[in-house]
Amino acid sequence: VRHDPVMVNEVLEALNPGEGSVVVDGTAGAGGHSLHFAKLIGSTGKLFALDRDPAMAAIARSNLDRAFQSGNGPEIHVAATSYHQIGDVLSAANCAGADAILLDLGINSIQVDDPARGFSFSKEGPLDGRFNPAEPDTRPISELVNSESAQQLAAWIREYSDERHANRIAMSIVRTRDQHPFETTTQLAEVVRQAVPAAERNARIDPATRTMQALRIVANRELEILEAGLHACLAALNLGGRLACLSFHSGEDKLVKRIFDAAGSARPDPGNLYAATTREGLAYEVRRRGAIKPSAEEVERNPRSRSARLRVIERSTEGRSH
Ligand SMILES: C[S@@+](CC[C@H](N)C(=O)[O-])C[C@H]1O[C@@H](n2cnc3c(N)ncnc32)[C@H](O)[C@@H]1O
Repeated sequence: VRHDPVMVNEVLEALNPGEGSVVVDGTAGAGGHSLHFAKLIGSTGKLFALDRDPAMAAIARSNLDRAFQSGNGPEIHVAATSYHQIGDVLSAANCAGADAILLDLGINSIQVDDPARGFSFSKEGPLDGRFNPAEPDTRPISELVNSESAQQLAAWIREYSDERHANRIAMSIVRTRDQHPFETTTQLAEVVRQAVPAAERNARIDPATRTMQALRIVANRELEILEAGLHACLAALNLGGRLACLSFHSGEDKLVKRIFDAAGSARPDPGNLYAATTREGLAYEVRRRGAIKPSAEEVERNPRSRSARLRVIERSTEGRSH
């Protein structure tokens, strides 16, 4: 089972994991990036592959096992857990910190292609959209669209997908559910398509894509977890260690930029969780101004990479001023 990993060369160049490094792939998916890390760090390295979705963690495990059957790979730890728990995962393995961490956000094609998961809207499935339905504090997309106000739904859709027709879509959702509550992905997708102006219905990107993305982000509390996760990853870096983050929409990228810029500045924000980290004397440097984008060839070969933005930060020498 495969998923085309995004911006592999750029990620490897940015993180530059050497032989014997400790690497954390915080969003292992099918293990596309992990396989590259494992080869580079060799038998003296340690690889931690985490995924919040237990089904994906199992796929990552079998792909990694198959690649390193003959015991020629690094020490590998696979865990079905969220990357914001990175501190616990490392300490359980008696590991003090990481030399390289990757967060490749969002969902992968294997999840989207399985209608039973409720991420797809071209094939009928239950309207769920959660990485792990057993996790507390998550709500299936069906619950959101069947119970939240039109105003709340519009705000989420606008904010988490840059949808211009968020109000029309939200009103239409509320009108429809009053007659018949939503149960399936295709029901919702059809209502979204009908709510946007006719000229946009057959656009290259299905208008349902944006609304599904926004509601999936809410269902999984993805931005709250990303914020906590970035702080946890910064705190888990070894001296000279690097964190790379691949985001796929502007809400995520803005959050990554804000937290990296705050960490890389000499002025810790007192209202910010990060201040606790700086008080311990940790210093960081943003590796480059602006986000790195995929090459034109990659976008051509793998259209999913189109919206990818890569940002990188390094934990620098203690006490160094910027
Ligand atoms: C874009 S895919 C990663 C693909 C992977 N890099 C590869 O090449 O196969 C994102 C993955 O992150 C997982 N994920 C989402 N939120 C997560 C979280 N908070 N912690 C850990 N994994 C998460 C998803 O289940 C999904 O498998």
